[in-house]
Amino acid sequence: MLRGNHPARIDEKGRLKVPNGFRSAIESQWGQELFVTSVTGEYVRLYPMAVWLEIERRLAEVPSTHPSKLRFLDRVNFFGQVAALDKQGRIVIPQLLRESALMAGEVSVLGLQNHLAVWNLKRLQERLFKKERSRTRTGGSWRSMGFEAGHTSVLLAETLELLAVRPGGLWVDGTLGLGGHAAAILRASAPGGRLLGLDRDGETLARARAVLAEFADRTRLEQADYRAIPEQLGGEPANGILLDLGISSAQLDDPERGFSFQADGPLDMRMDRSQGETAADLVNRLPESELADVIYQYGEERASRRIARTIAREREREPIRSTARLAEIVRGAAGRSRRPGLHPATRTFQALRIRVNGELAGLGEALERAALCLVPGGRMAVIAFHSLEDRIVKQGFRALALRGFRLLTKKPFRPGEEETRRNPRARSARLRGLAREEGA
Ligand SMILES: C[S@@+](CC[C@H](N)C(=O)[O-])C[C@H]1O[C@@H](n2cnc3c(N)ncnc32)[C@H](O)[C@@H]1O
Repeated sequence: MLRGNHPARIDEKGRLKVPNGFRSAIESQWGQELFVTSVTGEYVRLYPMAVWLEIERRLAEVPSTHPSKLRFLDRVNFFGQVAALDKQGRIVIPQLLRESALMAGEVSVLGLQNHLAVWNLKRLQERLFKKERSRTRTGGSWRSMGFEAGHTSVLLAETLELLAVRPGGLWVDGTLGLGGHAAAILRASAPGGRLLGLDRDGETLARARAVLAEFADRTRLEQADYRAIPEQLGGEPANGILLDLGISSAQLDDPERGFSFQADGPLDMRMDRSQGETAADLVNRLPESELADVIYQYGEERASRRIARTIAREREREPIRSTARLAEIVRGAAGRSRRPGLHPATRTFQALRIRVNGELAGLGEALERAALCLVPGGRMAVIAFHSLEDRIVKQGFRALALRGFRLLTKKPFRPGEEETRRNPRARSARLRGLAREEGA
């Protein structure tokens, strides 16, 4: 295990003398060959060759057309060079990297478990302390650091602020999606911060792996339910845990997944397509009264009985297999939506999705079990997208507050006008936060 921070020097020939403690650990565990590279050009990464080959092996599982994978490989290969430690434990830093990472004179060598990061001392201090200061200000500071570029993760700045992300530590994203929040957490926790990322959807996970390729050495991504966070952590406490509940835009926008009535597709709606009943199975199997209860309970739909009756009649004629057919049937039964602009099938689709994936089952207990995995002072942030879910989060957090946890949000954070304009899907989001106090 490579850990700690050791000063070192770059000599006039551009060679780094690897500090002795690190050198002996590397040579005994992995040998003398290293891959010397960088992703941003800001600092140098030294990977023992065996560690780098393992990263390449994991990357090979991601489709080679994926833009994030290509970008990552372009960058590491642009800077990268294989080199060996000489007899005095020195390694040559390529000129390009010496220039971009300001490698001259005094540097800091940080142990990051299985590889080293070499920083220009001044740049490292600036980065660590600038970030500490920015944490105490409003979310705007995170935005100005460019953490939002290129994705539409909901309430991103507010989430980082609530989680108090800082360099180092172990962070958990229990609902990875396309990794927008996770990437921001990894950036804000560099150098040294690690992330355990979970998603129950294997297809989404493969995409997140590509998006997060540049952080592969600091992440562990698993196809798993967030209800299994304690088991996935295996006893190691976390500094912060994030749950951004529901489905991602990528899932919603893919007609093949069957979540949306906007485009026709198979009526599936399973987040994990390897198991369980589809929405079509339920719609064609459940007795009419049970179907009405599902639509009423999980969709808060007043016309639930009428919709269930029409579905029961229509499926007699022919089983309902597609999103477009179900949307048409519901439209005919429910009439115009009470809220202007809301498709009449919105609530029924939400209800079926919640039922298919058991989304509310065990959420309360999962929050409690996850909260108990936090270090003292550690934080949890949860984003909910509908009132049923948010009610469970609110009640779960209140129960934890009676046991020595501290509520960070008396009222939930909601997206402002600007965010809702940029990303209309964010409009119903509510973010709540909790901190574990000493002794809780
Ligand atoms: C709203 S998206 C997360 C978006 C993500 N924060 C981002 O920035 O890209 C929710 C994700 O959680 C996943 N998910 C939903 N329920 C889950 C569960 N019980 N366990 C693990 N993942 C779950 C979904 O598959 C989806 O990918």
